[in-house]
Amino acid sequence: MADGGIFIGQGGGTPQVLNLKRANRHGLIAGATGTGKTVTLQGLAEGFSNAGVPVFVADVKGDLSGLAMAGSPLAKAHDAFTTRAREIGLADYAYADTPVQFWDLFGEQGHPIRTTISEMGPVLLARLMGLNDTQEGVLTIAFRFADEQGLLLLDLADLQAMLAHCAENAQALSAQYGNVTKASVGAIQRQLLQLESQGGAKFFGEPALDISDFIGTDDKGRGYVNVLAADRLMSSPRLYSTFLLWLLSELFETLPEVGDPDKPKLVFFFDEAHLLFEDAPKALLDKVEQVVRLIRSKGVGVYFVTQNPVDVPEDVAGQLGNRVQHALRAFTPRDQKAIRAAAETFRANPGVDVATAITELKVGEALVSLLQADGAPTPVERTLIRPPSSRLGPLSPAERAAVIQSSAVAGKYEAAVNRESAHEMLAERAGEAVVADDAAPAQRSGGAAGGGGWIGRVGKKLVMAVAGAFLASKARDIGDQLSGRSPRRRSANATRTAAGTAGSTLGYEIGKAFAGEMGGRIGRGVLGSFSRNMADNLSPRSRKAR
Ligand SMILES: Nc1ncnc2c1ncn2[C@@H]1O[C@H](COP(=O)(O)OP(=O)(O)OP(=O)(O)O)[C@@H](O)[C@H]1O
Ligand SMILES: [Mg+2]
Repeated sequence: MADGGIFIGQGGGTPQVLNLKRANRHGLIAGATGTGKTVTLQGLAEGFSNAGVPVFVADVKGDLSGLAMAGSPLAKAHDAFTTRAREIGLADYAYADTPVQFWDLFGEQGHPIRTTISEMGPVLLARLMGLNDTQEGVLTIAFRFADEQGLLLLDLADLQAMLAHCAENAQALSAQYGNVTKASVGAIQRQLLQLESQGGAKFFGEPALDISDFIGTDDKGRGYVNVLAADRLMSSPRLYSTFLLWLLSELFETLPEVGDPDKPKLVFFFDEAHLLFEDAPKALLDKVEQVVRLIRSKGVGVYFVTQNPVDVPEDVAGQLGNRVQHALRAFTPRDQKAIRAAAETFRANPGVDVATAITELKVGEALVSLLQADGAPTPVERTLIRPPSSRLGPLSPAERAAVIQSSAVAGKYEAAVNRESAHEMLAERAGEAVVADDAAPAQRSGGAAGGGGWIGRVGKKLVMAVAGAFLASKARDIGDQLSGRSPRRRSANATRTAAGTAGSTLGYEIGKAFAGEMGGRIGRGVLGSFSRNMADNLSPRSRKAR
């Protein structure tokens, strides 16, 4: 196996090796159904992990969970895999596992993943709820209004309350920010109810995901492979694609600028990538293109996996330097367009007729072109892909449960929910004492979803925000000390988690208030107020690249 690279397979008489130094120049794995995309992805994930690079992958069919276990001579694929290993001269082929962390938005097949409304921001939320331009504009105003009033939007109830507030103040808001009608607010509220009925409430709340839990290695120095259970998630394609986009933007915001590192900080596989681009408005596509372009210098490689390479818009496809193209069918005009497109994007090789080869490739065979040390792609080669070392196919529920229980983050996200909810409730009561004199009895119930009880909460949050403004620097110090974080990354997340750990209601509320002030600015950078933050985030290198 070549130094500094991941062996992908044997093609044109030479080993095809993915250069780790160029692995952040992104990639594409494409091919018709059943041609070997998942096996290729599995082998790549193993390769990155072995090289100490953490990986994130969405497991759409449940079969990638097998990464957590070594393959077996008793498995169905054993013969095919050992035959393939022989064909490509892989003398040291052996079965092995990879260190896997399971995650699940619904909290059933992995550690729960949550974020807050504030961190997701209006652009992605609008996408999530299928809002039109006007409604998105109103949502953006609601966020700004919340920001200005120091109100942290954590969960769906917070957003409901804020929208109700906007409807009541539609006139004043219109004068200040632009047109806000009760009708458009009402439309957003209805979409929000629908999101809730799809299980959205599970995803919005605390403790929010700390992205540093993704980026780690085990005691043998192997990168964690973070497997997101996405089978159920796929039934809400919008939630799936928006969530992955949010995750990308979180990575972008969280990670420092590193230029071109010797190996990536994280590699992100975006399976069923067509879902991201389907019916996405132009503005969102532009932002995806920007994130993909800029996240490179944070050391994150993004690999799109899709059946048809034309699913990926040209602006994005043009940035995918490492390419593995499995067989395509040539039945429809769209198929033929895909074949032409694939042929055009590869660096030509006189010995390979791409358009012909692409329809003839066997299962587990692909046209491969990878970026070399100098950044140029290798000429395309017809390549036999190496077999994976981990198990092909899913874990049993018992095996999965065992992996989840022994994970380094076991308990962190599961248990913390109740603890923090209790904190919040206690804080609410304490807060009510502060504002009790002018609070109506109905507001004491704390019910906010309908909008009736929000005033009490708003009042309390304002009090907290004022307190937070005085004590923000204190909270910041405590937060950094507790989390061991460098002050560089100071997000709503970090502050809340740290304050929560301190176990003090006051600390927690200060954290929240502080997060309200900072979280809006930081957490909504990439996809919420992209342009404002982008200038600061551009390194001289990436500025030149533009
Ligand atoms: N490199 C390989 N070596 C040997 N056998 C392979 C290889 N790649 C794929 N196969 C065989 O082909 C089967 C299908 O591969 P895979 O599941 O990766 O297809 P896919 O492109 O992901 O399909 P889908 O689009 O349906 O998800 C595997 O179960 C395996 O038996
Ligand atoms: Mg597959």
